[in-house]
Amino acid sequence: MTRARIVGLGAYAPKRVLTNADLAKMVETNDEWIVQRSGIRERHIADESEATSDLALRAAQQALERANLVPEDIEFIAVGTTTPDMFFPSVGNIVQHKLGCRRAGSVDMLAACAGSIYSLSIGAQFIQTGKYRRVLCIGAETLSRITDWTDRGTCVLLADAAGAAVLEASDDEARGILDFDLYSDGQYWDLLYMPGGGSRQPATRESVDARLHFAKMKGGEVFKVAVRMFVDCTERILARNGFSAADVSLFIPHQANLRIIEAAVKRVSLPMERVFVNVDRYGNTGAASVYVALEEAVAQGRVRSGDLVLMAAFGGGFAWGSLLMRW
Ligand code: UT7
Repeated sequence: MTRARIVGLGAYAPKRVLTNADLAKMVETNDEWIVQRSGIRERHIADESEATSDLALRAAQQALERANLVPEDIEFIAVGTTTPDMFFPSVGNIVQHKLGCRRAGSVDMLAACAGSIYSLSIGAQFIQTGKYRRVLCIGAETLSRITDWTDRGTCVLLADAAGAAVLEASDDEARGILDFDLYSDGQYWDLLYMPGGGSRQPATRESVDARLHFAKMKGGEVFKVAVRMFVDCTERILARNGFSAADVSLFIPHQANLRIIEAAVKRVSLPMERVFVNVDRYGNTGAASVYVALEEAVAQGRVRSGDLVLMAAFGGGFAWGSLLMRW
C-alpha cells in the first residue's frame, strides 16, 4: 500500500506583531482577559501589500526547498483557506503560477479552520490512490481582512499565517499518514460565519455599512461544540487504528483557544506535555494553524522518527476532522 509522507514543511507569519497591549488601545479589552480566556498573547497581522497567496507562497517555497524538490515535481496543490485573495482564481492557482509548478492542478478548499486537516487529507488521498506522487498541501489565511476591529469578541482571536507540507508517495507502510476523518454538520452554520460577499448577500453599500463582510461568532457556543468535536474525532480515529491516547507521542490541535485545547485533552486523558501549543504567539490562524504548529514542533525536535502524531481541527460550518501520522 502506498502511503503519503511529509518530506518538507514550511511556515510563514507576517512581520507585524500585534500584542494584547496594542489591542487594548483599539477596543475595550486587556491583556489579562485575553490571556485568561484564550491563552493568546500576540499574533501576526499581514501588511496592506500582503494577501493570502503571498503568505502561502512563502510557506510553500520553504517546504519545497526543505523537500529538496523543484516546482515541476509537484503534481497537485491543495489549499485550505477561508480568506482567498479574491473569489476566483483560487489561491492554489496563484501559488501554482508564482511558484512555477507547471504540471500541477490546484484547488482551494473552504472548510474554515478545519482546512488544514481537509487539505492534508485530500492531498494524501491523491497519493494513496496512486494518481500523484507529490502533492503540495497548504493552509493559508489573512483572517485580519474579515475581522471586525470594533468587535472585541473576535478581534482578539483571529490572525494571519501560512503553512505548507509537501507530501510524497512512499512504499514504507509503517510510516506517513495512516488515517484521517473528515466531518461536517451544517446545523451550526450561524455560530461562526461571514454573511456578506457571497450570492446570498452580495456586496452593496448597505452590506458594507451593516458590517456584513466580517466574521460573526457566538463564542461561548462555538467553545462547547468545539470541545465535543475534538474529543469525539480524536477518540474515534485512535480506536479505529487500535491505539489509545497513551500511544500518541504528540497531539497537534487547531490553535484556536488554549482553554478549548485543555478541556479536550483532559477528557481524552492526554497530558499537556504531549500537546503542542503555540496559540500564545500566533492566535487563531484558521486553516494555517495546524501546519504552522507542526512545522514548529518538528523544528523544535518535538517530533522524532517513529513518533505517532495526532492532529485535529474544527471550524465554522461546522467542519472538523482528525489525522493520524507515523513520523
Ligand atoms: O476556530 C474556531 C474559532 N472560534 C473559537 O474557537 C472561539 C471559541 N470561543 C472562545 O474562545 C470564547 O468563547 C471567547 C474567548 C470568544 C470568549 O470567552 P468566554 O469565556 O466564552 O466569554 P464570554 O463570551 O462569555 O464573555 C464574558 C464577558 C462578557 O461580558 P459580560 O456580558 O459578562 O459583562 C463579554 O462582553 O467578557 C466580555 N468580553 C470581553 N471582555 C474583555 C468579550 N470579549 C472581551 C474582550 N475583552 N476581548
